[in-house]
Amino acid sequence: MTAAQNAFIELLRKRRSVREFLPRAIEPVKIEVLKEAVLRSPSSRNFDPWEFVFVMDREKLKTLSRLKRHGSEFLAQAALAIAVCGDESKSDVWVEDCAIASILALLAAQSLGLGGCWVQVRKRFYDDGSDSEEYVRRTLALPSNLRVLSVMGIGYPAEFPEPLAEQELKRDHIHLNDF
Ligand SMILES: Cc1cc2nc3c(=O)[nH]c(=O)nc-3n(C[C@H](O)[C@H](O)[C@H](O)COP(=O)(O)O)c2cc1C
Repeated sequence: MTAAQNAFIELLRKRRSVREFLPRAIEPVKIEVLKEAVLRSPSSRNFDPWEFVFVMDREKLKTLSRLKRHGSEFLAQAALAIAVCGDESKSDVWVEDCAIASILALLAAQSLGLGGCWVQVRKRFYDDGSDSEEYVRRTLALPSNLRVLSVMGIGYPAEFPEPLAEQELKRDHIHLNDF
């Protein structure tokens, strides 16, 4: 394989979720690449039902960090959060379309020397039973027709989790021709 062919699998080999960030802003040129990356996401029947809210406002990031009891705290330290939203009236598979955009945002971030982690919003609730999607909708002034799949927290990494070793790959989950 050429170096260029190797680049993508090398990116995947190093990919880990990053939840600790340096207090450092992301350069505007990198923000533009992240915007381009999500807008290049493929979508079913090319309906592009997604909408992306890029959040860099520190107070809003803190508010988003409380969207659920566990697993969203790190957003308070992120330089950027991308709320990945979908219009379910535009596509019955908006979840898949938004999931693709979410992972592409994380991989694009990694390729730029940034780190990040997914925060699940759809089907999540705060302890008191309040709906995390509704919380994000209110925080970001989203129109009521928009669903919220995820919020991606992104920034310069302050932790460097070890890549998964080759021996840890669950090779028994791969099947040839039939199960
Ligand atoms: C659909 C999905 C939802 C996730 N939701 C959260 C979350 O709400 N909070 C969080 O801290 N991590 C979340 N993660 C990150 C996973 O915990 C993480 O990817 C997994 O533990 C494997 O670790 P790695 O990404 O470092 O390989 C989510 C990941 C996926 C794919």
